[in-house]
Amino acid sequence: MPPASADAAALREAAARAREHLAIGDAPPELALVLGSGLGALAEEADDARTLETTELPGYPRSTVEGHAGRLVYGLLEGRPVLFVQGRAHLYEGHTPRELTFPVRLAHALGALRLLLTNAAGGIAERLTPGSLMLITDHLNFAFPGPLVQTNADAPNDALLTGSSPYDPDWADRAEALANELGIALERGVYVWTRGPSYETPAEIRMFSQLGADAVGMSTVPEALAAARLGMPVLGLSTITNRAAGLSAGALDHEEVLDVSAQVQGTLRRLVREIVRAGAS
Ligand code: HPA
Repeated sequence: MPPASADAAALREAAARAREHLAIGDAPPELALVLGSGLGALAEEADDARTLETTELPGYPRSTVEGHAGRLVYGLLEGRPVLFVQGRAHLYEGHTPRELTFPVRLAHALGALRLLLTNAAGGIAERLTPGSLMLITDHLNFAFPGPLVQTNADAPNDALLTGSSPYDPDWADRAEALANELGIALERGVYVWTRGPSYETPAEIRMFSQLGADAVGMSTVPEALAAARLGMPVLGLSTITNRAAGLSAGALDHEEVLDVSAQVQGTLRRLVREIVRAGAS
């Protein structure tokens, strides 16, 4: 882990560059929207969009996974200023948990008030089949590292989360109501974070099922914790791309994840647009 002061300096520099390149000016993003596996295209619907390759930014974790672009896009969606985070890095790519929180800390530094996280996940609960959408109500951290651990120079480690779910229950209720209005099925569930990069074994999925997990994936938890720590309300939406290991015939592969996620994009896009349009109330 770099010393906290170096990390803070990288964040300041990255924020300054992003502010300038994305011409953020006086209209900070209302919302940062992290686009997971295969969902990146939503950013292309932004009006008046400005784009920045994240490789231009010091401290920004790089993703090497197919379907993860590594770009920030700033523009209007439903007339509201949104910072799109296209592509994300994962623990299994060798980043520290804290490095994975960098995009969220950057979004916060750029003025984003809320965080909407999307991801692809495997369905564990019977009701979650390929193509289902799940509203994340809470998570299990089975990658184990704590993304809020930091060296002590810039901020003490004492003000940790209070032991509540980082996902905002009121925002979740509103998102659910909007999904109902649109006739989009949205299931509530608990997301379990695994380190990857291998998919789980059938025995692990049986264990997760007994422990109360509804869906499994390799992201989202560090970002949710970081945002909650910064006081940003968080909403998490999973696209269920496959039944988790051992729950259906055949092997799991990333192509299938991308295919299913592409098929559900239209529905997810409609829902996300509506959530953005509704704003904070
Ligand atoms: N396991 C872990 N991550 C995933 C899965 C899965 O089954 N599907 C999509 N991301």
